[in-house]
Amino acid sequence: MGKVSFGLAVAVSCAVASTGIAAVLVVRRVRRRRRWNRVLAVLKEFEEACSTSVGRLRQVVDAMAVEMHAGLASEGGSKLKMLLSFVQNLPTGNEKGIFYALDIGGTYFRVLRVQLGDKRSAVVECDVERQPIPQELMTSTSEDLFDFITSSLKQFIEKEGGGSELLPGRRRDLGLTFSFPVKQTSVSSGHLIKWTKGFRIKDLVGKDVAECLQQAINKKGLNVRVSTLVNDAVGTLTLGHYHDPDTVAGVIIGTGTNACYLERTDAIIKCQGLLRTSGVMAINMEWGNFWSAHLPRTSYDMDLDVDSPNPNDQGFEKMISGMYLGEIARRVIFRMAQESDFFGPVSPRLSVPFTLTTPLMSAMHEDESGDLREVTRILDHALGIPNVPLKVRRLLVKVCDIVTRRAARLAAAGIVGILKKIGRDGSGGVTSGKTRGSGDSKIRRTVVAIEGALYTNYRSFREYLNEALDEILGEDISQHVTLQVTEDGSGVGAALLAACHSSNSVDK
Ligand code: BGC
Repeated sequence: MGKVSFGLAVAVSCAVASTGIAAVLVVRRVRRRRRWNRVLAVLKEFEEACSTSVGRLRQVVDAMAVEMHAGLASEGGSKLKMLLSFVQNLPTGNEKGIFYALDIGGTYFRVLRVQLGDKRSAVVECDVERQPIPQELMTSTSEDLFDFITSSLKQFIEKEGGGSELLPGRRRDLGLTFSFPVKQTSVSSGHLIKWTKGFRIKDLVGKDVAECLQQAINKKGLNVRVSTLVNDAVGTLTLGHYHDPDTVAGVIIGTGTNACYLERTDAIIKCQGLLRTSGVMAINMEWGNFWSAHLPRTSYDMDLDVDSPNPNDQGFEKMISGMYLGEIARRVIFRMAQESDFFGPVSPRLSVPFTLTTPLMSAMHEDESGDLREVTRILDHALGIPNVPLKVRRLLVKVCDIVTRRAARLAAAGIVGILKKIGRDGSGGVTSGKTRGSGDSKIRRTVVAIEGALYTNYRSFREYLNEALDEILGEDISQHVTLQVTEDGSGVGAALLAACHSSNSVDK
């Protein structure tokens, strides 16, 4: 009896215990599922907010064309500055000699020496030296920046081999590519309006950038004349046009983003009377600052903007360019980590802005291994999150995809906006802010020169951009539009323009 009741008691308590364990497991599973659903909800909400249907892209196209018009009509008429470049004569192909360029504007700084032959597109030789801009220089003084740049230029010139000696009385001509918003007063002078892309050298704002460089060059005793000051988008357009005269625009999608295009001078209303009324001029749009209510903006974009050194500025750039894409993805992943314990306790590194750079994000996105090995490595090494399950890693790749796809499609809409403004999108162009009826313009071969690591090195970005261009324009029109990658166009283009405006006219 004693034995029986003891056995019964054991059996009952075992049953109770296992029911208890099962109940705990069920509760845990339910909690896990809830947390997983919350993560999925974060993703879904983000994806919906980033939607770029072709209808929405067309609204962005129209807004871009209208804002371009407003920016040309009056100073401050639009967030698009539509800055004059004073580049009216593009290289003809007859330029000859050795010309230099300094290219400042992103993560890297370049010195170039370009030898031009006398046939079209005859860049005989091009030496480029590239080095990262030390982080501290980006927020230092203009004296430190120009001292660093001219020291590199001096070393570059001193290393040159034979053949580049100067004839007596001659100076080396140099084109300065300065990839920030500059209000030009001529092709070789202009004042910095503001900094972008994390640069903040206060004492240079409002100053003539070319003059500051010239002074620093003189101080170093170099026999060099700054003959042109250009934006990188203008340099890219110049090289593109040098290779192919059907080139009408230059686009940069790198650390920052921008575009420039050839505009009829009589359409630049804000300068009527000041410019010759016939001919064209390259207009630096500064499209990074474009804004429209049609842009698919998320709460992550808003937070990023508020936390940036330039809130309310460069809204388009903050959705498109290499400086920001990784950071948008990091913010979404951080939110997911807060919503669930799939990543373990929230990694302190994940909460640090800009720890997920765009190159890392693109490496995660383009990880083709079945078990997403690269994603595992980046999560562990860069973000301090080890042991993330495969299904969660897949979700993170999806985040990268959403961020990249939106950026590329918006860039495509921007390009079509330019084509619309100049009547190359098949719709007849924009006059006085209104779209003319379609069918009154012939479709001409149109080339857009394009540069920047996001487009050239990031396959998915490139494919999404090209695909969106086809979708927006339709096949009939898009077959006439070519995006042509130029190499070092921002710098080589500046050297070409230095050749056009050389003081050593005999060399031309
Ligand atoms: C600058 C532009 C530049 C672009 C690409 C933007 O942040 O404002 O002037 O062309 O970056 O480098």
